[in-house]
Amino acid sequence: MRVLSGIQPSGTLHIGNYFAMMQPMIRHQQEHDLFCFIVNYHALTTVTDAAKLREGTMNACLDFLALGLDPDKSTFYVQGDVPEVCELTWILNNHAPVARLELAHSYKDKLAKGFTPHNGLFSYPVLMAADILLYQAHVVPVGKDQKQHLEITRDIAMRFNNTYGETFVVPEARIDEDTATVPGIDGQKMSKSYGNTLDIFAEEKPLRKRIMSVVTDSTPVEEPKDPDKCNVYALISLFMTKDEREELAGRYRAGGMGYAQVKKELFERMWEYFKPYREKRAQLAADRGFVCEIMKKGAAKARGVAAVTLADVRHRVGLDY
Ligand code: ADP
Ligand code: TRP
Repeated sequence: MRVLSGIQPSGTLHIGNYFAMMQPMIRHQQEHDLFCFIVNYHALTTVTDAAKLREGTMNACLDFLALGLDPDKSTFYVQGDVPEVCELTWILNNHAPVARLELAHSYKDKLAKGFTPHNGLFSYPVLMAADILLYQAHVVPVGKDQKQHLEITRDIAMRFNNTYGETFVVPEARIDEDTATVPGIDGQKMSKSYGNTLDIFAEEKPLRKRIMSVVTDSTPVEEPKDPDKCNVYALISLFMTKDEREELAGRYRAGGMGYAQVKKELFERMWEYFKPYREKRAQLAADRGFVCEIMKKGAAKARGVAAVTLADVRHRVGLDY
């Protein structure tokens, strides 16, 4: 089974990215044929500072490698190193219904936030479909916000298959209920673009400060509290076993415990959890040349697979006169 997913280098990676996508991907590399990539073409839809894009891309590579992605057990690459995906995007554009793209939540959200709707933003889901279909992926681990994009990918794959015969695997999204939508410090979905993140590799002091600022209600310390309505509970749960979660929920319901105390525990858990990875990341960051080499090798592997699909597609549509 081929498992594939990508992440945008449009900012610093956070624990929403980690629990919904990065950790499941790293686990899949043990048993499955894993394709994992940094989508810098996609990031061009919002990032217009070249230095920022370069830095974000390198940082995302460092994060994945530090967190345990093994380039020997997987195909790990930067999207922009495989330009074949752009050719497939163009071909797929002709099977992507405009009406469907107009309904994409991510597109509508960006419009609502005042972004100028250029065509890159509009056809973002078609590039994502090309990312997936080019490699004939079966399963795509993502957070809930990507569900609709996966449906568009499936739609495009089926339309193409209907027109030209069975060409693409029709992929499935894999969304874990427990991590489908990780809240940010303000209670909205955690996102690089909302400024509400807890970053995986944040520095100690700023991280502590940010965690202390997670929004909670104003229930007094002595009163019982509802864990299911608390952002701090949702966040700390990510670092807990089921039994630990239940024990903490009991403490919430019993009253006598303030939010500040759970925030302190959240900081400690998160800080400890990522400790070994911080050390690994620092080592890798000292040799960026080595990291570039890893990424270029990954791209060469990916291009080998991409070339096979693309040759078939070019033939089916008649580009090979
Ligand atoms: P962001 O919204 O921070 O820019 P991306 O769009 O790059 O994140 O998402 C990368 C992956 O992480 C996707 O699979 C996405 O669904 C997942 N993801 C991002 N934020 C969250 C979140 N708050 N909760 C769950 N999954 C998330
Ligand atoms: N759109 C995805 C996001 O913002 C990133 C992405 C691009 C992706 N190509 C992909 C995810 C292919 C899964 C598969 O999170």
